Amino acid sequence: MQRLTNKRIILGITGGIAAYKSAELTRLLKNAGADVRVVMTPASTEFITPLTLQALSGNTVHLHLLNAEAEAGMGHIELAKWADLVLIAPGSANFISRLAAGQGDDLLTTLCLATDAPICIAPAMNQAMWRDAGTQANTNLLTNRGIKLFGPGVGEQACGDNGPGRMLEPEEIANLTASQFNSGQLTGKTVFITAGPTREALDPVRYISNHSSGKMGYALAEAAIEAGAKVKLISGPVTLPAPERVKTVKVESAQEMLAASLQDLALCDIFIAAAAVADYRPTAVAEHKIKKGSEEIMELHLVKNPDIVATIANTEPKPFTIGFAAETQDVLNYARSKLERKNLDMIIANDVSRTDIGFNSDENTVTIVTDTSTETLPQTSKRKLAIQLINQIAIQYNKHDI
Ligand code: C5P
Repeated sequence: MQRLTNKRIILGITGGIAAYKSAELTRLLKNAGADVRVVMTPASTEFITPLTLQALSGNTVHLHLLNAEAEAGMGHIELAKWADLVLIAPGSANFISRLAAGQGDDLLTTLCLATDAPICIAPAMNQAMWRDAGTQANTNLLTNRGIKLFGPGVGEQACGDNGPGRMLEPEEIANLTASQFNSGQLTGKTVFITAGPTREALDPVRYISNHSSGKMGYALAEAAIEAGAKVKLISGPVTLPAPERVKTVKVESAQEMLAASLQDLALCDIFIAAAAVADYRPTAVAEHKIKKGSEEIMELHLVKNPDIVATIANTEPKPFTIGFAAETQDVLNYARSKLERKNLDMIIANDVSRTDIGFNSDENTVTIVTDTSTETLPQTSKRKLAIQLINQIAIQYNKHDI
């Protein structure tokens, strides 16, 4: 079973006898490392109790659209944004029909309309219902919209019939779910990523730094791993846990970050500079704590730090190099000039004057700029944005590589 570490899965359960298998599916998804939130339609509660799913998922089960208390906790829009993937198992003929019609008449359909996460359905119904022209037309509509179908399987059915319409076994559904996150686009490639702030020491107890959380760089590292890459994450001091399967090198200063970036650079195919590197550092680090004097004004002398991404982009042979441009005004113009000045292959620009996105927030919207193209990705969580960015980076890298 592939891992689903930290993946946020909404498991939607609709009314059908196969709902009893959703308990085992919840357990398997949890065991693979996923955070699972269960959403049940009213009909499904006739087949399995919310309490069972609550105990297995470790989270409150979401049942109603118009419930003030539930909406105050995690409302349907928050749930829709929270999810990395929405899995509906079992998916009844009625649910498939309502989704195909674009209805939002209960929590699960509303959530499917509101989410930008991929949606996968494991259909489960009687073979005649599955073969029915209406169901077939509805499933075609859904697959044309990019919704994936897991199964159904063929075989013996609860009603005694034999044929297509059986829900796949939980193990198979869990594996298919995990495989949705592995694009394989960067298989065999090595990616270096810088992340977080740097700390420039003034004395043994003080430093100059910034508010970078490292979230974007860490999310990129996870997304690159899922795309099949080997990843070295060169991280300034952050409070985030080191991602699994990533080689994380912890550094403090810009000079240390540069040294760690240059180490084994010959192995690096793609270099992503997501760190917020301090532009200057004190000219000297005092050996002992600087004492408060009688003067009202204290002068600090600073010297420019090396530009890590520019240094990497000017080595020979150069990895495919990507920088970030966090700007407060004239974002695209600054990004384009930075692309040229630093000899980058791609720059990811974002507007940090907005308080709802960027630096310390969980969401972001960015514009990807290359020599020949400009593309804006809509606002979403940094986790989802990272997956889209790695996808775009892989496409551009492969173009450049040819
Ligand atoms: O020049 P500016 O700091 O705006 O450029 C931002 C980009 O350059 C980011 O990708 C950042 O990680 C990288 N950078 C760097 N070393 C520096 C300064 C910035 O790698 N000293």
